[in-house]
Amino acid sequence: MIKTALSHPNKALVIYWGNEDDTLRIPTRSSLSMTLQGINHPLDYIVSLKTMRSSERDKVIIDGIEDKGEIYSHFVHHLDAMRRYTGLREKVEVTTRTSFPVGSGLAGSAASASALAEAFAGLIGKTTDTRLKSIMARRGSGSASRSVFGGFVMWQKGNSDDTSYAKQLFDENHWDLRNVIAMVSSNPKKIRSIDGMQLSKKTCPEQVYSGFVSVADPHIEQISAALSARDIAKLGASYEEENYLFRQVCLKTMPPLDYWMKGTHDILNKVVNLRDEGIPAYAGTDAGPNVHIFTVPKQVKRVIRTIQEVEGVLEIIHCRVGEGSHLIEEHLA
Ligand code: PMV
Repeated sequence: MIKTALSHPNKALVIYWGNEDDTLRIPTRSSLSMTLQGINHPLDYIVSLKTMRSSERDKVIIDGIEDKGEIYSHFVHHLDAMRRYTGLREKVEVTTRTSFPVGSGLAGSAASASALAEAFAGLIGKTTDTRLKSIMARRGSGSASRSVFGGFVMWQKGNSDDTSYAKQLFDENHWDLRNVIAMVSSNPKKIRSIDGMQLSKKTCPEQVYSGFVSVADPHIEQISAALSARDIAKLGASYEEENYLFRQVCLKTMPPLDYWMKGTHDILNKVVNLRDEGIPAYAGTDAGPNVHIFTVPKQVKRVIRTIQEVEGVLEIIHCRVGEGSHLIEEHLA
């Protein structure tokens, strides 16, 4: 049997950064994101899973080349977790194709792990079980639990494997919000998110980290209300506050996690200037130097024109609210 899934990355408005349980990926705080669909550049991650009845081991093919290293181990680890959770025994051949660099701060891990979970759910006939898909995606990458859904999505932290999963708050047609990504680097991150968040939890001063944890729920409430009212000023204020606190946690980690580059600072300043001119644009980052700017459709051109001038901007990706992971008929294998 073969099943193929397509999924997209997402951008957190309320950030996931740290686990109570690293193996199960039970997070320290709930989070909220928007699923991203590229307009001028596709942000698609496609995975085909083919069962191999007689094989003793899984096989992983990335963009036409068999991988036996780090990516293979990561996929097998994720597949093993899903097999244990669901009882499927067969080994599989994984074939992937992506339209953007994974590990570049574009949340490729969210897209890849949710695509893998979606295709796996297809194999076991559980495509409509969104809770199961979100739990399975989470085991590959925490933020992937959210990419199972389109639109605006909340991952409730829960306290066990069965209770930590995401839910859709509003679908992709609720509000035509845009996310303009200013890429200042497409290199893999200096420190992987999973390592960075472990370090923060271990070394960040207790009051800074617990302060960050305790504002997640109020921020989720504020952003949900802003989404419901389609109020970009309210959404933007909470998004920027979240990002400020996330940055504090990163900088107070030992050694400090400074993911930003000069271009990052320059773009953030430009966005403040835009706001002074009355343009609703709100900026933040992820665990990386690239900047995600939330704005409304009629201001996208203006935002792009402004950030294009910044030295060090390599590419600008314009996104709308994306759909969740789903099966497709065009198989890769
Ligand atoms: O999902 P992971 O394990 O790759 O962690 C990524 C977490 C961030 O992207 C940095 C934040 C988030 O909530 O998406």
